[in-house]
Formats: sequence, C-alpha cells, structure tokens
Amino acid sequence: MSVKIIEDNVVKIFDTTLRDGEQSPGASMNVEEKVIIARQLEKLGVDVIEGGFAVSSEGDFAAVKSISKEVKRPTVVSLARTQEGDIKRALQAVEQAKHPGIHIFIATSDIHMKHKLRMSRNEVLDAAVWAVGYAKKHIDYIEFSAEDASRSDWDFLVQVFSEVVRAGAITLNVPDTTGYAIPAEFGSLLRYLVDHTEGGKQVIWSAHCHNDLGLATANSLAAVANGARQVECTINGIGERAGNTSLEEVVMALKTRKNLFGVDTNIVSEQIYPSSRLVSQVTGIPIPINKPIVGDNAFAHEAGIHQDGVLKQKLTYEIMTPESVGITGNRLVMGKHSGRHAFGERLKELGFNLNKVDLNRAFLRFKELADKKKEVYDEDIEAIVAEEILRLPGRPDRYELLYLNVNSSSNAIPSATVRMRVDGQECVDHSTGDGVVDACYKVIAKITGSRCHLVRYSVKAITGGADAQGEVSCLLEDAGLRVSGQGAHTDIIMASALAYMNALNKLEYRKHYRQMVAKEGP
Ligand code: KIV
Ligand code: ZN
Repeated sequence: MSVKIIEDNVVKIFDTTLRDGEQSPGASMNVEEKVIIARQLEKLGVDVIEGGFAVSSEGDFAAVKSISKEVKRPTVVSLARTQEGDIKRALQAVEQAKHPGIHIFIATSDIHMKHKLRMSRNEVLDAAVWAVGYAKKHIDYIEFSAEDASRSDWDFLVQVFSEVVRAGAITLNVPDTTGYAIPAEFGSLLRYLVDHTEGGKQVIWSAHCHNDLGLATANSLAAVANGARQVECTINGIGERAGNTSLEEVVMALKTRKNLFGVDTNIVSEQIYPSSRLVSQVTGIPIPINKPIVGDNAFAHEAGIHQDGVLKQKLTYEIMTPESVGITGNRLVMGKHSGRHAFGERLKELGFNLNKVDLNRAFLRFKELADKKKEVYDEDIEAIVAEEILRLPGRPDRYELLYLNVNSSSNAIPSATVRMRVDGQECVDHSTGDGVVDACYKVIAKITGSRCHLVRYSVKAITGGADAQGEVSCLLEDAGLRVSGQGAHTDIIMASALAYMNALNKLEYRKHYRQMVAKEGP
C-alpha cells in the first residue's frame, strides 16, 4: 500500500461521544455526567469536543453551555441544522467557550433529499450556503457536514463544499452516515473532494464514519491516507446503531503504524484506558472483552506458544504495550490505613477532581471497602466514584438502601426482604421472584411504587480474585426516559440492588430536572 505523506502531519481528533455517542441506545447522560467526561476528554488531548445538539433539548443546551465554561484547550462545538433557530441556539450555547465553534449539517444524498428533506439539490445548496454565511457573521470556527456524503453524487458534493468554503466554512466533514462505505471507495471519495473542491486545499477535511459493516476505523484511516486531517470518533466506539469510529482504534493505528501514515495526533495515549473506563461507568455500556485496545483481553496472551514468545521477547506478539494506552495492570493503590489526603491525590490522578463533600463521601466508601477487601485497586476506586459521585449531584438521594436479606436454595422459591429509606422515611417489604435479583428488584419496585422496565442488566468482576468486587450495571426505562445505574460491592446481590437504586435516583433527578426546566428554563 502506498500512502501519500501530506505536509500537514497532525490529524485532529474530534470527539463526539457526548453527541453522536450519546445517541446510542441507553447512553443518555445528564449535564454533570457530560461535564465529567468533557474534563477527561480535555486531559486525553482531543482537539474538538462536540458537546451536544443545543436546539434538540434543554438538557443538551445546558450541557454544551457547561462544557464551554469548563474546558479550556479544546474547541467546543454544538451541532445545528441549517435553520436560524438551530444556529442561534448553538451560538448561545458555546458563547462562553474559550474556543467556540459550530457544526452545521444538511443531507446531500438523493435518497435523503427526496424522502427526508423533500428538497431539491438547489434548495439544499442554498440552505447550506445561507446557514454558513449567517453563522460566519457571529463565529469564525464553522464545520460543515454533508450528511450521507458517502451515498451522495460526488460532483454535487464538490459543488456544495466549494460554495460553503466561499461562505466561510473552515472544516469540511464527509460523513459515512449509514456505515455503507468500503475503505478503498471512501479513500477515493476523499481524494476526489480534496482535489476538486475550490478552496479545498485551504480547509481541513474530516471523516465521520459509522460502523454498520464494521469498517468505521478502516474507512477513517483510508480517509487520512487520502488527505483527511480530522477524524470524528467516540470513546469505545459508542454511537447510533453499531456505533461510530472508535477513538482508541484510530489513534493507536496512527501511532503504531506511523511508518505508513506519517502523522501524529495530540492524544495523550496513556489517557485512553481511563477515558474508556469512565465512559463505560457513566453510560453503563460495558466494554466487550475482545474490544481492540481497551477490552479485557486486548493484551492477554492465552496460547502457550504466544505466552512463550512474549516471555522471551514482547515484540513477538505485542504490537503496542498496555502501558502505552494507560493499562498499568491492577495497581494496588492503598489499603485500610491510607489517609484521606492520599486518597484524594489518587482520585486526582485518576481524573476525578471532587469537592470536599463528595471526597468525604467517597472516602467513607473506600474505608468500608478496604475493611472487606485486602487489596484496593484503581478500578475499585473508579467504581466507588461512579456510584457515589455520579449519582445526584447537589441533591440528596431520594432512595437509600438500608438492609437486604435474600434466600435461595435448590428447592425453595427465591425471596428477598429489603429495608430502605424513601424521602427520609424507613420502609420495609418482602417479595419472591424468579431468582434473588428478580425478587430483590420486585421488592424495591413495590416500596418505591416504580413502574419502570428493566431493559438491560450486566454483571462483571472488577478485579481478579475471590474477594473481587462485582460491578453491576442496569438500564431502566420509565415514561420515555432511560437511565443507567451502577453498583459495586463484594456481594453481587448487593451490587445489583445498589445499581437499581442508583438508576431510580437518577430517574428522580431527571424528572426533577425536566420540571425545573419547564418552570424556569435551563
Ligand atoms: O452521521 C452523521 O451524518 C452525523 C452528522 C450530523 C455529522 O452524525
Ligand atoms: Zn454520525
């Protein structure tokens, strides 16, 4: 394969975990959760953070606004259609950012124009030029996307891109919206656009791929090989349907094969694994064990021949080191004699800057865990933070678990008794179920009067050993709202109850937030 080495040798990383990533089923995040992730993205070194689609909801608007105030180095953008209302809202959301930007899009494929937009080519062209020109009066950083570019007519794309460059766009994005493209074809499309668009050599070309055929990373790399100098991606590849291009895969492919691509990114690769864990904790979407770069098995050598080779010389079967992506092994951080200060410092190193109240809460949980477990690892601490701190920022929990007792044997019906606090009042009840987790969830639903539906439930051991903590993640749905809950405990039934309670509390927060916004605005 011959790759043309282009003069500009830095590929910008545009992270859309908080916009396209959040569109993955069950990944919705509240404002505080998005801000926590945005802080980590800044630490990771991404160049652009797409915080949301400001006009789409009050929550998205508030998230983009908060992220704009919070991060300093990356450009913060909001998505917008080619409509005045969208553009105004997006501009408002990013106005306090140190580096504000807007991302305007409209579909250019005949299929989308005919069936979705019901617009002619000329109408789409006019809308795109008008929107970019309008935004340019207020902001310099404008990215324009031709949605469904990979199924659009190439010469129409050239026409649209040439006109929006004239109107002021500085980044041109080529989305493979439906994950339809094949690498050689997508690479040729990029090359054609760079060569034929008027002003095309003065702008940054960007690739935005979806993974429906499992080709998002390959297509993004083909785009880079053909002139793209920005890749749009998400942590862990989360996103609509089969997801978006996975940040960690593209970054590590460019780094590992620098001999071929000749480009760098601004990513601090050692922050990849902490970012991946954080996104998984917050969204409740588990990382598949065989996921490249960040999956549990990504650096595990099982076959005897492989183990023998790696022991003799790592290069035999390892193309990159776990340390280079921030996997340091299960690091023993501290035990039950560790103090609050050391605990706070470790949290900072892990990317969590907590206020005093949250730090105290997390420290108490850590002490409890250290009493039960001989060794406490980074992952255990992350789980505590996810559960304790990412729950209801600034508000006390409505529900609190006080006591749980379950019974199960091969010839009895599983049952559970739960005592919990609801709005400060103690309540107790009992139920049977198909299993102890089911029984336990039934009692909690009975006590809280919740009618929500359990969409997903998963359990995983956080660290190795018989005393490992179990990490449970569940996804609940209630009246169109979906929230994930996390719980970690050395006993997985307790972890299950804590996860359920965490999700119920988040649901309360969401409902409260909706009411507040309806009354006062975001
Ligand atoms: O997939 C897509 O086309 C998008 C655009 C809005 C860039 O997400
Ligand atoms: Zn997309």
